[in-house]
Amino acid sequence: MIQERNIVLIGFMGTGKTSVGKALAKKLKRPLMDVDRLIEEKTKRKIKEIFEKEGEAYFRKIEKEAVNEVSGSRGAVITTGGGVVLDPENISALKRGGVLICLSSSAETIFKRVKNSEKRPLLNSEDKLAQIRKLLSERAPLYKVADHQMDTDRQTPEETAVAIMKLLEEDAP
Ligand code: S3P
Repeated sequence: MIQERNIVLIGFMGTGKTSVGKALAKKLKRPLMDVDRLIEEKTKRKIKEIFEKEGEAYFRKIEKEAVNEVSGSRGAVITTGGGVVLDPENISALKRGGVLICLSSSAETIFKRVKNSEKRPLLNSEDKLAQIRKLLSERAPLYKVADHQMDTDRQTPEETAVAIMKLLEEDAP
């Protein structure tokens, strides 16, 4: 596996990026960088609060700065927010130093994982499942930019981390 390249996890909300990222960083003994956590540190606010008080456009601006910052690292596991793919410049920055892996799950699984979460302002809707389906279909083409796709529907985060390690070993020149 190429040691210095970042391993970047992208994918829709609730596909397991955070838990898979943690498992992967632990197994590979690599630093973990989470774009949403970095945004919260920079702004000293929770993501939900940023959306409520400043709006999505402001969040995307800070997200872009945070993406540029983490993209400069080497050998890290980087986890991103589900909307990182909305700006193609984010993807170019992340791809420059890293391999992109997109985690995916069905709308039903995502719904089960996020239905009680208060942390996702974009799913703050009467019909969460319908909102997930709508956003998923809008974003599906954008997630295709990843170097690899990985379905997390029937795998634990540990199993997904092992599968990613295998994938990257096979991929190494
Ligand atoms: C977002 C996903 C969230 C967070 C923000 C916006 C999105 O991250 O960045 O609420 O646009 O899909 P997770 O994917 O970690 O939930």
